[in-house]
Amino acid sequence: MKPNKYFVIDFDSTFTKVEAFDVLAEISLNDHPEKETRKELVKEITNLGMNGNISFRESLQRRLELLEPHQKHLPQLVEKLKAVVSESFKRNREFFQTYQENIYIISNGFKEFIEPVVKEYGVLPKNILANEFRFDSQGKVSGFDDTNPLSANNGKVEVLKRLSLPGDVYVIGDGYTDYEIKHSGLANKFYAFTENVEREAVVEKADHIAPSLDEFLYLNKLNTAISYPKNRINVLLLENVHPVAVEMMKAEGFNVETYPAALTEEELCERIKNVSVLGIRSKTQVTSRVLENANRLMVIGAFCIGTNQIDLKAATQKGVAVFNAPFSNTRSVVELAIAEMIVLMRGIVDKSNKMHQGVWDKSAKGSFEVRGKKLGIIGYGNIGTQLSVLAESLGMKVLYYDTEEKLSLGNATKCKGLREVLQQADVISLHVDGRDSNTNLIGEREFAQMKKGVIFLNLSRGHVVDIEALRKYILNGTVAGCAVDVFPYEPVSNDEEFVNALRGLPNTILSPHIGGSTLEAQENIGQFVPGKMMDYINSGSTSNSVNFPNLTLPTLENAHRLIHIHDNVPGILARINQVLADNGVNIVGQYLKTNEHIGYVITDVNKLYDKDIVTKLRAIDHTIKFRILY
Ligand code: NAI
Repeated sequence: MKPNKYFVIDFDSTFTKVEAFDVLAEISLNDHPEKETRKELVKEITNLGMNGNISFRESLQRRLELLEPHQKHLPQLVEKLKAVVSESFKRNREFFQTYQENIYIISNGFKEFIEPVVKEYGVLPKNILANEFRFDSQGKVSGFDDTNPLSANNGKVEVLKRLSLPGDVYVIGDGYTDYEIKHSGLANKFYAFTENVEREAVVEKADHIAPSLDEFLYLNKLNTAISYPKNRINVLLLENVHPVAVEMMKAEGFNVETYPAALTEEELCERIKNVSVLGIRSKTQVTSRVLENANRLMVIGAFCIGTNQIDLKAATQKGVAVFNAPFSNTRSVVELAIAEMIVLMRGIVDKSNKMHQGVWDKSAKGSFEVRGKKLGIIGYGNIGTQLSVLAESLGMKVLYYDTEEKLSLGNATKCKGLREVLQQADVISLHVDGRDSNTNLIGEREFAQMKKGVIFLNLSRGHVVDIEALRKYILNGTVAGCAVDVFPYEPVSNDEEFVNALRGLPNTILSPHIGGSTLEAQENIGQFVPGKMMDYINSGSTSNSVNFPNLTLPTLENAHRLIHIHDNVPGILARINQVLADNGVNIVGQYLKTNEHIGYVITDVNKLYDKDIVTKLRAIDHTIKFRILY
């Protein structure tokens, strides 16, 4: 039984993202010498009509005279309009099919281009209320049916009055004329649709604001296609994350709030309560206390490489997935390492310093090309491998050592141990991760094994190198040049003095942990992290998650996806499947992965199931979180 409810929907800037006349102008005036002036005039006349300075009919007449539309323009217009149907309309096709008889499109535009666009969604031609063109014998638009109330002021109200719908009427639109239907008593509710444009005068009058059709369907319990309206998912982005991230999250329809700095634990405990998606950089501490307050949190995005600022164990226990940007700044680090090794091999630092003091010291002594030299890379991960490729293209011979088994790229030679690299390399570059056991990986003993005149780079982590030992080996001439970007202790702000035993040493480049800090890297991070978080929200995919078992999932078609996160104890999968079997639910696909703390089970089921099973699945012991994707 269909409810006795009628849905009256506006076309321009509601069903489609645009005003059809603007698109028509681009087509019909394409090569017209007065294109721009006419487009301006059309806008002015539209405003005159809207402000009541001229009648709507006159405004329509004058605009058509300026636009000079022709029958031949219509197919192109229709194609363009089909491409710009509002996103939330596209994802809720099912609504149009289910309530076909009860859905009306109402517009002061023209049936000739509205009908082919809305028909694809199942809107019935008889339910399209719009104007109609009149054409002359050559196919030129010569006017419109001026007996149609929609060509006159107050047209939408008049048409609705004549329809006299026998039930509750809900109007969805972005314009004042849509509100007028409610104002005249012909509708029960007016929803201001703000997905494409937001007009203050209209929003003020609305019973509800609908940032998307999802919200309208959710409020009226009509949603079939989506789990939860995205505009109800609160996203909090702290620490000035890149604007591209903010744009991506907004375009997805989330309710996004930004804040330029980090929040204290106290502040974050308060702000986190209604937040589902949190984006931070390195300064925000996501402690277990913060997580205790996070009632709705699904995912945290660290817009940086490190995740030490997040209590990962607590996040995992709370069923919150964490993502970071592990290789968005890889290239930036590699470029700096390449530049530094060349600069050091030529003694440029000291030469430049002398020049600033007025000393001209022209000599080739101690200057070398990097071509043909042996580069020893310690840690052959994201950065080490990239460096390997670029260094080879400069003609260097690459040796590397990694504790894990790694694929050698290009002509790089794998070494069995650290010693082998240390003893042979002309340039040594560290790219290991920051695990505790790497503390003082390179100390007195290791420096003693290096060739005299070696160039030494550390752009990985500060604690990996014993600074006093490095100082000693620079001063005794073993290390002929070095570049250090990371330090065991780094100033917490730009106001704090940098204190370190390497200050003032010859041919030594010191940089303030900026190996990965480029605008390109920032933008890459800004794109990468939201991509991962949205994949997780939309499909349950956890690839590259720092704390969740990594699962890459196929897109969901014609099924529901049940996402179950639980403590990693035996037997949960069996219990999930028992509930499904007891309720006769057909499993279309199932994926399970565990790590030492949690199990992550994705079950795709066919569309028909009893809603009670949701309660039963939630009630399984050791369940941490459960959600459904439609
Ligand atoms: P990754 O995790 O991809 O690679 C690290 C590699 O080091 C792994 O293959 C691992 O097996 C290996 N490894 C760990 N301990 C080792 C040991 N004792 N001996 C030999 N191999 C060992 O990391 P990625 O992305 O390549 O980063 C490397 C380092 O660079 C990290 O410490 C990271 O924090 C740092 N980094 C520094 C930046 C800066 O601004 N200076 C920017 C980005 C990363």
